[in-house]
Amino acid sequence: MTITFQFLLLLFCSLIKSSSSKTTLPIGSSLSVQDDSDFITSPDNTFTCGFYGFQTNAYWFAIWFTNSKDRTVVWTANRNTPVNGRGSKVTFQGNGAMVLTDVDGMVVWETNTTSSDVKKAVLQDSGNLVLENDQGKILWQSFDYPTDTLLPSQTLTKSKSLISALRKGTFESGYFSLSYNSINVLTMIYDGPEISSVYWPSPDPGFNVWIYGRTSYNSSRIAVFNNLGVFSSSDRWQFGASDMGFGIKRRLTMDHDGNLRIYSLNESTRLWSISRQALAKPCDVHGVCGRNGICIHGENPECSCPPGYEWSNPTDLTQGCKPTFNKTCDNSTRFGFLGLPHTDYYGFDLNYSSPISFEACRDICLGDCSCEAFSYRLTGEGLCFTKSALFNGFQSPNFPGTIYLKVPRGIEKTGFVPILASSKPTCVDTTIMVGSPFMYASLMNKKVKWVYLYSFALAVGVVEALIILLGWWLFNGKNELLVNLEYGYHMISNHFRGFSYQELVKATQDFKVEIGRGGSGAVYKGILEDERVVAVKRLGDVSGGEFSAEVSTIGQINHMNLVRMWGYCSEKKHRLIVYEYVENLSLDKRLFSSSFLQWKERFKVAIGIAKGLAYLHHECLEWVIHCDVKPENILLDHAFEPKIADFGLAKLFERGGQSSEFTRVRGTKGYMAPEWAHNLPITAKVDVYGYGVVVLELVKGIRLSSMIAHEGEEEESELTRFVKITKRIIQEGNELCIEEIIDPRLGGLYSKHQAAKLVEIGLSCVEEDRNKRPTMDSVVQVLIDCEYEEGN
Ligand SMILES: *[C@@H]1O[C@H](CO)[C@@H](O)[C@H](O)[C@H]1NC(C)=O
Ligand SMILES: *[C@@H]1O[C@H](CO)[C@@H](O)[C@H](O)[C@H]1NC(C)=O
Ligand SMILES: *[C@@H]1O[C@H](CO)[C@@H](O)[C@H](O)[C@H]1NC(C)=O
Ligand SMILES: *[C@@H]1O[C@H](CO)[C@@H](O)[C@H](O)[C@H]1NC(C)=O
Ligand SMILES: *[C@@H]1O[C@H](CO)[C@@H](O)[C@H](O)[C@H]1NC(C)=O
Ligand SMILES: *[C@@H]1O[C@H](CO)[C@@H](O)[C@H](O)[C@H]1NC(C)=O
Repeated sequence: MTITFQFLLLLFCSLIKSSSSKTTLPIGSSLSVQDDSDFITSPDNTFTCGFYGFQTNAYWFAIWFTNSKDRTVVWTANRNTPVNGRGSKVTFQGNGAMVLTDVDGMVVWETNTTSSDVKKAVLQDSGNLVLENDQGKILWQSFDYPTDTLLPSQTLTKSKSLISALRKGTFESGYFSLSYNSINVLTMIYDGPEISSVYWPSPDPGFNVWIYGRTSYNSSRIAVFNNLGVFSSSDRWQFGASDMGFGIKRRLTMDHDGNLRIYSLNESTRLWSISRQALAKPCDVHGVCGRNGICIHGENPECSCPPGYEWSNPTDLTQGCKPTFNKTCDNSTRFGFLGLPHTDYYGFDLNYSSPISFEACRDICLGDCSCEAFSYRLTGEGLCFTKSALFNGFQSPNFPGTIYLKVPRGIEKTGFVPILASSKPTCVDTTIMVGSPFMYASLMNKKVKWVYLYSFALAVGVVEALIILLGWWLFNGKNELLVNLEYGYHMISNHFRGFSYQELVKATQDFKVEIGRGGSGAVYKGILEDERVVAVKRLGDVSGGEFSAEVSTIGQINHMNLVRMWGYCSEKKHRLIVYEYVENLSLDKRLFSSSFLQWKERFKVAIGIAKGLAYLHHECLEWVIHCDVKPENILLDHAFEPKIADFGLAKLFERGGQSSEFTRVRGTKGYMAPEWAHNLPITAKVDVYGYGVVVLELVKGIRLSSMIAHEGEEEESELTRFVKITKRIIQEGNELCIEEIIDPRLGGLYSKHQAAKLVEIGLSCVEEDRNKRPTMDSVVQVLIDCEYEEGN
């Protein structure tokens, strides 16, 4: 009797034990696929390790985020060999090995830990599954075997790689990978069934790793994703989350579409948002649209087949397109060429000739049986590339060449549906891959040439457009084939829309309350029908054509430190932009007046502007230079979080065609970098300069941009004087005395360390030589490092 009772008690206890979650697995125990409660969790419950069922009968031994809505998997042991939903188990054997067996007892996966003194398996808070001995020494860890994801504190080393999943939502290995190449550079490669091709860093011969600020001489080949959200590699490449900082759950994933992204988890919605991606343009990824397919650059990239081709597999566009004609080389077939403007297929060049005429280039291709197409570019003397195969196709409004496909006579007359008319325009200066600030300057120079080229292309284009337009109607049926690729998670919540003029007249009560006025126009307060309070900006002279496309591009930019654009109106001569309403006045009114900010707010403002600018410069889909960073353009919300206003407009006015003179005078005296005056190409460093002035003003609490005159001396700005004095102090080897610099109105209530940092950053940002100025990314990092210092 007592024995049965004890037995029952024991059973009861063990039942309780097994249903509450475990964090370790002792030696000799196992996890079974059938038991839903058979898993281990990390102590803080962030991660779970156990069997993860995908379809009814396919299971993976995996680690996933417990609290993300879709239980995002970060590691799998048996990635390409799922096990059965019955009878499969993971056993932590007495000999120290962890073994995954399928229903038939077949070993699918095991750890190499047999001869060692392994005692337990632990799932750590970092998401690392480790096997350790009694002394806590790690003998095996899942972090050494990454699949497609790197977690904070995990490293990517020499012989390891992140390999994408084949499709969204599955685990099996796909074709894209991130790893170190033989010259120590972190590289992304497409390694598909037919071809393999490096696509990042750009394989273009004119682009080399040094231009990207990277090095191939550090052979340690190690990259780490840290808890701040920064991924840094030994080749000097760095990649940081836009919400950089501690306390956010993140992952770095090589996605199924070949892009590398940092995701951040929103703990309340339990959804992931993309906080950074390596390639700004998805069509730069090779292999996405398969053989003969063309990736069309746009907000949602699409695959398309050229005329004369059809999908190889309409349900899987990554398999590309196949010709509807027979590819033969006998003399009986007469070939023609079909020109696709702004399109190219990367690689597979048979030969390259220059200078050469279009006809000569065509004849080379016609005479060569293996030539499938040729690419012709009229950059001065004519460039001719003949192609033996058509892979990595892309179409982008900025691409200056045309590809001519060799097709049997008859097909070339059908024409091609151009997407260019409807796609948003992009600037050359915004098409650079993220993380390549050094590229910027040289591309700005190139831009000029391209513009020149465009005017030529335009003339040819008019005739072409007529033919194409005809082709559009004939070919309309092709549209349904332009199926969207499933591009990951929501990128941008799409509240952005067009408004009618009447709507805005009503919202602003006929532009009654003016709340501001700047160089580009007056701003009015308004209330939309859905009761959202908005600021409506009425623009002066902007040409209509590009306006809506341009504004839509800016409208997609979404960051907490940037004033959100809700929409626009472009009707007759009216050009208006609808912004979110930010309630707490602009920074100038809060800094140079009696209602000044306290230190904590000032630091918050400094860090917030830096984050906003870093976002504009380095990571939104289209790079943006603000060109007019000053306190008037920094608005504060109710919690004194800064929001940068007026970004993206520089481009608009430039396009407006009032001449480049307008660009020259954009910016405000006192906040303008010296390169404006020196007629140098304008880079993101002009914003860094403006930021530097603002930061120093935050510390001093006065306008440094104003001019002052001393007796007998030339007029100079407060800033010049301030920089001169502080530099002299530093050069003479003296400590900079913050007490003498800091805004006396603070009454000594500030963090000395933070203030010193701000002065240091401010001074480096206003360097004459823009190459000496830091990037906004690095400023953010420095500031975050001293963010949690208490004011004293
Ligand atoms: C495990 O051992 C085998 C045989 O020695 C070896 O080929 C394999 O690379 C080892 N794997 C690991 C993960 O150490
Ligand atoms: C190589 O990179 C590693 C990791 O980033 C770094 O610690 C090391 O100092 C670098 N070595 C050299 C010679 O630059
Ligand atoms: C999480 O999502 C909610 C709802 O979309 C949003 O209000 C909140 O600001 C988000 N939190 C973070 C940290 O982004
Ligand atoms: C291509 O060739 C095959 C066999 O040689 C023939 O059956 C087919 O009709 C041809 N197709 C076209 C479009 O000429
Ligand atoms: C094709 O034409 C060339 C000359 O135009 C000739 O030399 C060759 O023999 C022809 N080949 C065939 C297969 O007819
Ligand atoms: C490549 O083109 C050049 C002329 O542009 C020619 O001299 C050379 O023979 C060609 N090479 C091949 C392999 O066709």
